[in-house]
Amino acid sequence: MMRIAYVNGRYVPHADAAVSVEDRGYQFADGVYEVATFYNGILVDGGLHIDRLLRSLSELGIPQPLSSRAALQHVISETIRRNGRANGYIYVQVTRGVASRDHVYKRGMRPSLVVTVSREKKVQAKEIQNGTEVITRPDIRWLRRDIKSIALLPNVLLKNEATVLGKREIWLTDENGYICEGAVSNAYIITKKGVLVTREEGVHLLSGIVRHRVLALAREAGIKVEERAFTAKEAESAAEAFLSSSTGHIVPVVRVNDKQLGDGKVGATFKQLFALYVDSIEVDTGYRIWTV
Ligand code: PDD
Repeated sequence: MMRIAYVNGRYVPHADAAVSVEDRGYQFADGVYEVATFYNGILVDGGLHIDRLLRSLSELGIPQPLSSRAALQHVISETIRRNGRANGYIYVQVTRGVASRDHVYKRGMRPSLVVTVSREKKVQAKEIQNGTEVITRPDIRWLRRDIKSIALLPNVLLKNEATVLGKREIWLTDENGYICEGAVSNAYIITKKGVLVTREEGVHLLSGIVRHRVLALAREAGIKVEERAFTAKEAESAAEAFLSSSTGHIVPVVRVNDKQLGDGKVGATFKQLFALYVDSIEVDTGYRIWTV
């Protein structure tokens, strides 16, 4: 089946999908985006992704691209349907629109909306079984990390640095040395007392949709959760750690800055959470992202 993209009111072959060279997303990164997975054609936490997209738009004063939330939901579902793919992920991008290049934008511009569909990213057995490594670096991004902006140059540079060094992710520290999140994911540690710690919501991090699910599952399972700042040093001496993102789900971390956590093996709390997480996605979509 041909890959189809939605671009400003039209469904077109992906290869022909294009926007103007004067789109403000292209020239100024003046826009926002969402990435969400779908299984059996069902979006995982679709409502929360749309809520976050609308919030990001509102924070930047970009109008909603379509007349209603339902219309947006329809375009996303229809793009998934036209791609004839049961499992995968969507990319939704909204920019302020097209205008001759000027830092000052005009009121009443028509936002550009693009939706694309990609192939499922499979859970990596090696990562789940053996764990992964992260390093920490000062956060060189802007101070509104709560907005899912398409201005991702710092994230691109940081994630590439991690990859070149053979690490799964880079955790970013603020001016006080506290970890905000990863370049493309949220960050968590589990203390030696079994407390799940992750930075509280606010301008330091993106309010991850997987983060919501993981914290709800942990609380339901009776795992103590603390939403607070923690340093790289605290992470280096944690019992366990992990990261989360929509396409990567949850991934265990067994080394932070080359310091081994616990016995260096994937910990019991992560295993418990991962099992709950896999089950919860199956309950919502009927699809098992991981089978053993
Ligand atoms: N990234 N923090 C950052 C900086 C991210 O880029 C992401 C996700 C997250 C996790 O958010 P969520 O759980 O809603 O996916 C946190 C996506 C997947 C991306 O840019 O591809």
